[in-house]
Amino acid sequence: MGDNWPIGVCDSGIGGLTVVKELLELMPDEHFIYFGDTARIPYGDRPPAEILTFMRQILRFFTEQKVKMVVVACNTMTAVGLDMAWREFPFPVVGVNTGIRSALAASRSGRIGVIATQATVASGLHERTAKAIDAKAVVALQACPKLVPLIEREQLEGPAVEAAVAEYLRPLRDAGVDALILGCTHYPFISPVISRYLGPAVTIVNPARETALDAVSLLAEYDLRGNGPGSVRFCFSADLERARRLAARIIPGPLPAFEKVDMATMP
Ligand code: SIN
Repeated sequence: MGDNWPIGVCDSGIGGLTVVKELLELMPDEHFIYFGDTARIPYGDRPPAEILTFMRQILRFFTEQKVKMVVVACNTMTAVGLDMAWREFPFPVVGVNTGIRSALAASRSGRIGVIATQATVASGLHERTAKAIDAKAVVALQACPKLVPLIEREQLEGPAVEAAVAEYLRPLRDAGVDALILGCTHYPFISPVISRYLGPAVTIVNPARETALDAVSLLAEYDLRGNGPGSVRFCFSADLERARRLAARIIPGPLPAFEKVDMATMP
């Protein structure tokens, strides 16, 4: 495994770009290769066995690309398949940080909310993590199946997004949470709408920065730091132009040409 080999970063679609933004800031000397499975999104409504099949295909693609580490920038794949990735593949793997520590630190009441996909909620990952840190923590979870399809369709504001946000966040607001974890890497794209709905008394926790910091630590632990100059490739399984427009909203500077990768044909 070479120090200047790339770091693979994956998501079911464009959400993981919110993590790429942080990775590029913290690790300008690294090569990154991003894959977003826009042909098969959403993952969050699928059964765990299917999510694992898709994830293995992505990790085999990264193996072919000779990556030295993978950042799973997708909460659903993290919740369902992080253990599998460590067991079955030769490179170190970082998942999305749960954000629980930050949320508990920000909360005065000890009542925190998590919004995520159905698969992430069903995994119980956030509750287990919270209880391990503070047995008295109260975690209110809400699955939000309408949000990822809206964001992938570039609907980042307006009546449809506001209605979905209100539908999902009302129970959490009524439960008195004072910190809310964005438990899906897509959600930072609509955080202004979420903040507006909840108001200033609720701290919004976006775990993207902590995830990138976890990646920095793991790279150092495995002594795999690259020495630049860094670069980034963006690969998607469909809708390259839409992915490019969404990427341009958050990744600073000129973007390279986006590449199409047909993941369904991977073994
Ligand atoms: C999805 O594909 O449903 C979203 C994946 C995620 O949890 O980030």
